Amino acid sequence: MARNPVQVLSKYGELFGDTFRFYIGGLKEAIVTTNPAVIQHVLKTNAENYQKSEIQVKRMGHFLGKGLLTTDGEAWRTQRRLIQKGFDRKQLEALSSIMQDSLAESLQNFDRQVGNGPVDIYPCLMKMTFAMVARSLFGARLKDEDIDLVSHTICTVQEFIVRQTLQPYLNPWFAVSGELRKHEDMRARADNILLEYIRQRRHKPAGHDLLQTLMDARYSDGEGMSDELVLSESMQLLVAGHETSSNALSWLLYLLSSRPDCLERVRQEFDAVLGDTPLNYGDVPRFEFVTQVIQEALRLYPPFWMIDRMAVADDRVGDLAIPRGSTVIVFVYGAHHASRYWDDPERFDSERFTKAHEKQQTPFTYLPFGGGPRGCIGGNYAMLQILMILSILLRKYDFQLSPGQTIEAQPMVILRPKHGIRMTFMPAIAPDRHAILQESK
Ligand code: HEM
Repeated sequence: MARNPVQVLSKYGELFGDTFRFYIGGLKEAIVTTNPAVIQHVLKTNAENYQKSEIQVKRMGHFLGKGLLTTDGEAWRTQRRLIQKGFDRKQLEALSSIMQDSLAESLQNFDRQVGNGPVDIYPCLMKMTFAMVARSLFGARLKDEDIDLVSHTICTVQEFIVRQTLQPYLNPWFAVSGELRKHEDMRARADNILLEYIRQRRHKPAGHDLLQTLMDARYSDGEGMSDELVLSESMQLLVAGHETSSNALSWLLYLLSSRPDCLERVRQEFDAVLGDTPLNYGDVPRFEFVTQVIQEALRLYPPFWMIDRMAVADDRVGDLAIPRGSTVIVFVYGAHHASRYWDDPERFDSERFTKAHEKQQTPFTYLPFGGGPRGCIGGNYAMLQILMILSILLRKYDFQLSPGQTIEAQPMVILRPKHGIRMTFMPAIAPDRHAILQESK
């Protein structure tokens, strides 16, 4: 179970049906479900009765303070309403140019790296997407070394939180050995750097970034957020947006690397919609086929392979009793791979997401961005980011999976490629060259 929960829960699903109980560590009752009616009830219809899990509220809260990821109830609702503005259409249009500039800068690094031979795309894409999210938040002037320090801090602290959760018996040892302190100090260093940007912004003209949205937000009494709250909300957005889009992009490139026809169609759509112009948020709805391909990649490899909640009071959905205090695990990967809802579920097939097919989909069988009031606030941003990076990478490069490697998904907090994904990148052959090559064959 600790090594590969996805495999074990999928097996239990085959044996016991779409909803079953098991005891985490033999002690704590958990209900695992891929049943869309139960999922809808827990995430949406009776969402009030289901709080974020202990790992989010207690352990992450310890390092990240209070914010969207770590609060519930009225405090969460107020913050969500204010922060949502940062992700509306107008704001995403404004962010497009910050994102393009950040990408152009990251590409210089990427060019150098791929020029030296095969690369593991996972860390490369993580660097690219994180710089984009960080600059969308703190503006174009955020320094490279500050981005690197914050990114390193988030990775290290997240790994520590996973250890605290999986090996809770070590927590007293973490306290006396200085491990806990070491991670608290790291976080404090990153906090101080970001706090400085926040304080400077109070005296500078407004920017078009997310920091400005957070600072301009006003509660019903006319008050704004304190610097400390702006900091913890920013940090939480950085954590939530850290590994998610890069993860989706890595699996997407991996899937495309063995599907030349699909890749060609994707490139053609980018050419037809964009020509030589950069991608802006307004272009997003025009990518019909590419969107289907991204949706199918997110079905096969959902970055959040599960979503967990804790029942506040006794509850019931149909025949299923959910006692107070029990953990409900919405097994997203299981729902995305269930043969009940997907024909030949292991097969890549972007046709599943044509408009006609989507209409037939049972609600809450496909939920890469979660669902209900706590669904992903950054979903549209993530789609923009993925499209923007793909539009450049695919048209600039041809790429090949390096031979002799095992590609395996490892379900940590996020469904990561366990051994990375190594690829070789070459300058792309222009479409007319493709035609000439075809003719000469
Ligand atoms: C492909 C990329 C992404 C995927 C698949 C994804 C998925 C998810 C999922 C499944 C949830 C719900 C978790 C739950 O219910 O417990 C969530 C929540 C959240 N996501 Fe994303 N996410 C992505 C990108 C982003 C980005 C880029 C940002 C920010 C820049 C972001 C910010 C957030 C925040 C703040 C929440 C918590 C919302 C709340 O509790 O109100 N996400 N995301």
